[in-house]
Amino acid sequence: MKSFYVTTPIYYANSLPHMGHLYTTVVADFLTRYRRQRGFETYFLTGTDEHGTNIERASARAARTPREHVDAVVAELKKMFADFGLDGAHGGYDIFMRTTEPFHYEGAAEFWRRAAARQTPKGRENIYKGFYEGLFCAPCGTFKTEDEVTPADAESGARLCLIHERPVDMVSEESYFFRLSDYDEALLALYESRPDFIRPEVRRNEVVSLVRGGLQDVSISRLKTSVSWAIPVPGDPDHTVYIWFDALINYITALGWGSDERRAAVGEDLFGKFWPGVHLIGKDILRQHAVLWPAMLLAAGVELPRAVVAHGLWLDQTGRKGSKTLGNALELPTLRRHYSVDAVRYFLLREMSFGQDCKVDYEVILDRANSDLAGGLGNLVSRTLTMIRKYFDGAVPADDIPEERRLQAKRAGVDSDAVELASSLELVREQFIRNVEDYAFHRALESAWTMIARVDKFISDAKPWELARDEAQRETLGAVLYRAAETLRWLAVLLHPVMPESTRSVWQQLGQAGDPGRTDPAELKWGGLAAGARIGEVAPLFPRIDKAKTMAEIEKEVEQKKEQQQSQGSPGASSGTHATQAAVPGSPTATEVKPEPPQQGATEATPPPEGVATFITIDDFVKVEMRVGEILTAERIPKSDKLLKFTIDLGEAEPRQILAGIAEHYEPEKLVGRKVAVVSNLKPRKLRGLESQGMVLAASVGEEGRPVLATFTEDVPNGARLK
Ligand code: MSP
Repeated sequence: MKSFYVTTPIYYANSLPHMGHLYTTVVADFLTRYRRQRGFETYFLTGTDEHGTNIERASARAARTPREHVDAVVAELKKMFADFGLDGAHGGYDIFMRTTEPFHYEGAAEFWRRAAARQTPKGRENIYKGFYEGLFCAPCGTFKTEDEVTPADAESGARLCLIHERPVDMVSEESYFFRLSDYDEALLALYESRPDFIRPEVRRNEVVSLVRGGLQDVSISRLKTSVSWAIPVPGDPDHTVYIWFDALINYITALGWGSDERRAAVGEDLFGKFWPGVHLIGKDILRQHAVLWPAMLLAAGVELPRAVVAHGLWLDQTGRKGSKTLGNALELPTLRRHYSVDAVRYFLLREMSFGQDCKVDYEVILDRANSDLAGGLGNLVSRTLTMIRKYFDGAVPADDIPEERRLQAKRAGVDSDAVELASSLELVREQFIRNVEDYAFHRALESAWTMIARVDKFISDAKPWELARDEAQRETLGAVLYRAAETLRWLAVLLHPVMPESTRSVWQQLGQAGDPGRTDPAELKWGGLAAGARIGEVAPLFPRIDKAKTMAEIEKEVEQKKEQQQSQGSPGASSGTHATQAAVPGSPTATEVKPEPPQQGATEATPPPEGVATFITIDDFVKVEMRVGEILTAERIPKSDKLLKFTIDLGEAEPRQILAGIAEHYEPEKLVGRKVAVVSNLKPRKLRGLESQGMVLAASVGEEGRPVLATFTEDVPNGARLK
């Protein structure tokens, strides 16, 4: 049997699900159902990426352990997927993969060892130890190149990640490297020999020119002291595996690669059966999937994926990426409350030209549901079936028009046979299949809707209500309704992967046995609908949505949400009913410590809401080391109005250099000899090219945040710890 393996990215388990997660998962679900119809054995993976600093930080904000936090987020994601019919119980994903699974640890370690034991195409070791200094964005979980961050801020020196608009950290430490730079030629040969490896074309071109420009080696480990919530490097427990290196491997460990335990648990050779697979991703994670991942697989000697297919992003009406922090993201629970699952699926697949970005808000979804579904498909189904009930007592009439009645039929505008209609339906089927296989889902749907328009016109031109008044036109009337109903049978099959529930309902209403999900659209033949079949109960498929009422309700919900967020002092801090269900067994209850809901907007590190008790434990507090320091020297920094440079004695062998943004409020000379409070275990970072080895604490006063140094009125020795 032919097999088909499709994956979504595994989503960061630090936040509540959003539109981006929903979209890729719907596309994967759609492709799986389509392939199943075509006779493929399918395997559909989705899941969560559960390691790294960002998840550790999010769990600390929510007063949970990382494990509790990821479990809570996973529960939310699974619930959301079930609400949208994407889970196994609804015929959706086969595995919800988690990178914290022990079998993944085993497989990832095996992968590392294999890559380490082999050589690059240029005959050098794949993995080597070096020293890394770079800008690291925790929300992205990646090191950033110069062009991926803003220039240093004139005052603070901070550089912001262009995606998250949050400061990146300067990280400098011992690290293992993957020799990606040796893979440029091998990758270019791959893109050349397999033009379909990266889809769509525009993304392929992007990657080819990136790789032509040369590749740099990638740091693939962090010191355990920097990132502890991660997989240990095999044979070197002081290091943990870089989260992207770990995460990408999930696509094969899920199939049992590298883990006897997983293979035994599954009881079959999933890897042999399903690999290579198709990776569906957003275009923002193209480099990792189309460059790093194939190079990693080449390094470990594992077969490459079938394809990497990148979609565009959902934007708000002003063209900004939907984000909880900006408050412009659609809320999935609101979406679910007001629209049917099939209407959302249809919208997602119809609206976005796959590969390009697309604007979305609640209103465009509603408009499409009303025009294309209620007014288009739904209306055609209900008018056809209602007339079969009314004129033929619920039994599907025959398509034949006897010889002697053909002239009369012709006068009413009805052909003696259905050849023309049937051949346009065949053409539409061809276009549909070709476009689906080409990832042009919007075009596939467009072509299906041309058929709806055509049959609608056919009915309106034939005027069945007039034919019904003439007994001599009984067969003509029957033929008109048969043709409409047979078209609907075809559409139920073609559209099944898009709208599983509604098409099943059409199927049943047409009195069909079997399952449209197991009917291959390529095998459909005109005339498959048996005359005499009794149609089922006629149920409205897509009731028209009252736009004024629904939009008013949605706007009210959005307003309430905003107010709630403002009162909590943080956009995106709350996630309504969805979020409060995220409490984890064993974590504090609402009356003790109200657990902060996981943040929605996958990669956003939103600050905890004010006024909500997000306590840290003593264990968290003791991680911050604060000491008394004496300012030995203080001076201004050329070209900086804000920064002062100090040397401060913390009772250590050497005084430290520390920078502080207080130059507008203090004369440096007056600070010499002053005892201050210093955070002494803060990771060193560079400001204006100078390393700062700690932070001087100050109160922030008034609207403009005037700094007032924390100081001591009694005599204290340098280096004394603040507790
Ligand atoms: N954990 C990594 C993926 C590792 S795969 C081995 C990750 N996770 S994520 O949760 O941040 O993002 C997952 C997906 O959501 C990405 O494909 C990303 O493109 C997608 N989206 C996030 N916001 C989006 C939109 N506004 N629109 C469409 N998809 C977007 O990256």
